Amino acid sequence: MVDRPNAAPPFFADGGPALYAWMRNARDNTPVMFDEASQSWKVYRYEDAHRVLSDWQVFSNDMCRIMPEHGFTRGNLSTMDPPEHKQLRGIIAQGFTPRALADLAPRIERIVGELLDAVEDRTEIDITRDLSYQLPLNVIAEVIGVPRGDRGVLYRTADAQLALTCENPADPDFVVGVQKAMGELQSYLGQELVPARRRDPQDDLVSKLATARLDDRSLDDEEVVNFTVLLLLAGHLTTMSLLGNMMLTLSEHPGQLTEVRADRSLVPGAVEEVLRYRPPYPRAAG
Ligand code: HEM
Repeated sequence: MVDRPNAAPPFFADGGPALYAWMRNARDNTPVMFDEASQSWKVYRYEDAHRVLSDWQVFSNDMCRIMPEHGFTRGNLSTMDPPEHKQLRGIIAQGFTPRALADLAPRIERIVGELLDAVEDRTEIDITRDLSYQLPLNVIAEVIGVPRGDRGVLYRTADAQLALTCENPADPDFVVGVQKAMGELQSYLGQELVPARRRDPQDDLVSKLATARLDDRSLDDEEVVNFTVLLLLAGHLTTMSLLGNMMLTLSEHPGQLTEVRADRSLVPGAVEEVLRYRPPYPRAAG
């Protein structure tokens, strides 16, 4: 049976099968369709998605052109086209080279150690609450340069985003909660962190953005704040989900868990496969 083209995709509550069946149906029967509910086009096949994501001259990413009044577009890498996109991405690229990430490894190990030390007296660990929620938040905060004492605002922003549940996907309080938390995060960055780094740059990404030169100008506060918000949001819940999905998937496949434990060279491939098999944001495709 063919689903109605505009029927909303199911959530991920069953761990995937219902959503994957929905997507297969969409790929086979409505590979390109206009979704009345969101007033947008949906593209489900790999080749088509690849074309849309690559061909920016036809499928522009520049939200300023259609939503000039939207406050989160200026300086937001994910809503702009070349050449501005390339220029802005270049400012932070050096923070994400293989070398820079390898240098980060000891700091990541230290954070993991601290998180595990905090649960050492307990007989049970909640991997999501005690580890995978906290680890990426603290790693990204270190890379960006949010001091330890200021990270409460990052937790509150993440909690507001996580407040949406499968049981109540249209919860009106959700949007209000996210807007409030985002406002607090933007105020913190714009009124405290960015001015502090402009005055006294450190070895972190906020300082790089605050002091960067783009052609013959600097980024203004709104651009630095929006870019920083993107990095904080893009890096936290995605990686949190990946870590949880890794645990879930390997626990469902104990033979492969044993193989990966015995041969750590298999870890990168296992991560890639879990990203493909159980992506952090599968619902976004709907
Ligand atoms: C498993 C973890 C992650 C997943 C699944 C993921 C997924 C994605 C996806 C699908 C996009 C494209 C969005 C679009 O085109 O609209 C994206 C973009 C982006 N992500 Fe991630 N991400 C992850 C981790 C991270 C981390 C750790 C960071 C850095 C702190 C990060 C920073 C970004 C940035 C800056 C962009 C915009 C890139 C550009 O437009 O050039 N992401 N991510």
